[in-house]
Amino acid sequence: MAQIIDGKAVSAAVKDEVAAEAARLREERGLKIGLAVVIVGNDQASRVYVNNKKKACEAVGFQSYEYAMDEDTTQEQLLDLVNVLNRDDRVNGILVQLPLPGHIDEKAIINAISPEKDVDAFHPENVGRIMIGEYSFLPCTPAGVMRLIASTGVDITGKQCVVIGRSNIVGKPMAMLLLQKNGTVTICHSRTQNLKELCLTADILVVAIGRAKFIDGSYIKEGAVVIDVGMDRDENGKLCGDVDFESAEKKAGYITPVPGGVGPMTIAMLMQNTLTAAKQQAGIE
Ligand code: GUN
Repeated sequence: MAQIIDGKAVSAAVKDEVAAEAARLREERGLKIGLAVVIVGNDQASRVYVNNKKKACEAVGFQSYEYAMDEDTTQEQLLDLVNVLNRDDRVNGILVQLPLPGHIDEKAIINAISPEKDVDAFHPENVGRIMIGEYSFLPCTPAGVMRLIASTGVDITGKQCVVIGRSNIVGKPMAMLLLQKNGTVTICHSRTQNLKELCLTADILVVAIGRAKFIDGSYIKEGAVVIDVGMDRDENGKLCGDVDFESAEKKAGYITPVPGGVGPMTIAMLMQNTLTAAKQQAGIE
């Protein structure tokens, strides 16, 4: 039976570290840290995420600035706001919640965010920095996954790592981070022909495909570290991951549950990125 990786506990530890460092910087340097969160339109899921991000800011001692804009906001208006936030010294990090309404070009907005304040690490400059290993920020989900793997004590060096999924936000940066830690990395995707065979070679398996319970125990090598990035609904409408937990945990050495695995990590890593941004802008480290 696998050991369960407790994402809530690791996330709480990251937030505690961030809160302690933020408090020290406030006391010793008078540094105040601020995150601007921009939401456009009425997407209910986005509203929940934004509220959670604001709550996390409060918990670690950051100021959050919310900008809620109407669904019919123009691209120009949103670009104007991003430019104002780029210049606002109270704001160390800028997060524009995605998805944006269809009439707004997400790429144009992401490209307009100052790379120094891009705490999502979605700007091409920050994406490029990950490729060459000279980054300040990592996208929150892959950063959270790396932290969860670290919590197991398993050394990535020399291990077979299989990432299923090739999105810009998860799969591609995930593969780069595992490579930087000296893993031997294979990226699989919807067109991969011998998926099961490749998965069975994985000492570390990261699954981000968006299909409920797609990866069952028959894909998992005995003792593997299995990280499930999925957030799906099963046949009864219950929240589940891309991995069939019940059969997978019989084979895995370590496994993340859904909920309570990768999910709680993303906001913690956002807080960490905001702290890093504030320190860099203040010339600390
Ligand atoms: N929408 C869903 N996940 C994310 C995220 O990590 N960042 C932003 N900006 N929007 C999202």
